[in-house]
Amino acid sequence: MANLKDKVIIITGAGAGLGQATALQLAKDGAKLTLVDLDVKGLEETKKLILEAVPSTEILLIAGNVADEEVVKNYVNKTVERFDRIDGFYNNAGIEGKQNLTENYGSEEFQRVLDVNLNGVFYGMKYVLQVMSKQGHGSVVNAASVGGIRGVGNQSGYAASKHGVVGLTRNSAIEYGQYGININAIAPGAFMTPMVEASLKQMDPENWEEVGRAFVEPNPMKRFGKPEEVGYLVSFLLSDEAKFINGTVIPIDGGQSYKY
Ligand SMILES: NC(=O)c1ccc[n+]([C@@H]2O[C@H](COP(=O)([O-])OP(=O)(O)OC[C@H]3O[C@@H](n4cnc5c(N)ncnc54)[C@H](O)[C@@H]3O)[C@@H](O)[C@H]2O)c1
Repeated sequence: MANLKDKVIIITGAGAGLGQATALQLAKDGAKLTLVDLDVKGLEETKKLILEAVPSTEILLIAGNVADEEVVKNYVNKTVERFDRIDGFYNNAGIEGKQNLTENYGSEEFQRVLDVNLNGVFYGMKYVLQVMSKQGHGSVVNAASVGGIRGVGNQSGYAASKHGVVGLTRNSAIEYGQYGININAIAPGAFMTPMVEASLKQMDPENWEEVGRAFVEPNPMKRFGKPEEVGYLVSFLLSDEAKFINGTVIPIDGGQSYKY
């Protein structure tokens, strides 16, 4: 278990899925949390889960869209007002977008996916790094995807945005190491969250569970990842023990992205 005692950590997209599971893990490991999401109900649910498990956790909830730069400035300012600093940042909020061949991929859809997955991640880093560089310490984990290091198909917007997240991660890691700040990305494979359920339903609305079983069959581990497994990885990457890990993109996918 990583030690995050009293570390102040912001998580975006904390109202469901990997963000929610990670928020719970970071609370168990001792962190104080700012949780950001569009979905207020989801935020309340995450807060309830955390307080049931670790009643003493200090939590700030912020409802808003990470694609809106003013919202991002606000969640950073509110965190500093409340907790005085930012030690860690899990830049996680993202959407998949509608699946389609490149020639049929809607241009508005492409922009919508980039606005959240790439601009949202960039704004988050921009304002969080302004605080961290003044402090002289901090850790950032960006949510990329296997779709950010490999071709997946039917996902132009998602692939472009997640490859972009990898680029932002490597670029900023080179800039900020000198200020005691490490910046990494994770590249999850398939984890059963509301996003992946919706994705399977796009492939076959009637038989999506069967499609899911077939989907993980080629995985060396023959299963979906469990959301808490991302929580363990992010918790480690945001801990002091991981400080010399910088600029990497870590697949967490049961080995699938290395399979020929
Ligand atoms: N689940 C997977 O298998 C998987 C695989 C690779 C990468 N990822 C990445 O991990 C991240 C989380 O995925 P997930 O599966 O938990 O998704 P999810 O859809 O289950 O949860 C995402 C959360 O982010 C919130 N959100 C979406 N857009 C937002 C916005 N514009 N502003 C604020 N909040 C917003 C949603 O309300 C939701 O609570 C995403 O970036 C995703 O691309 C997930």
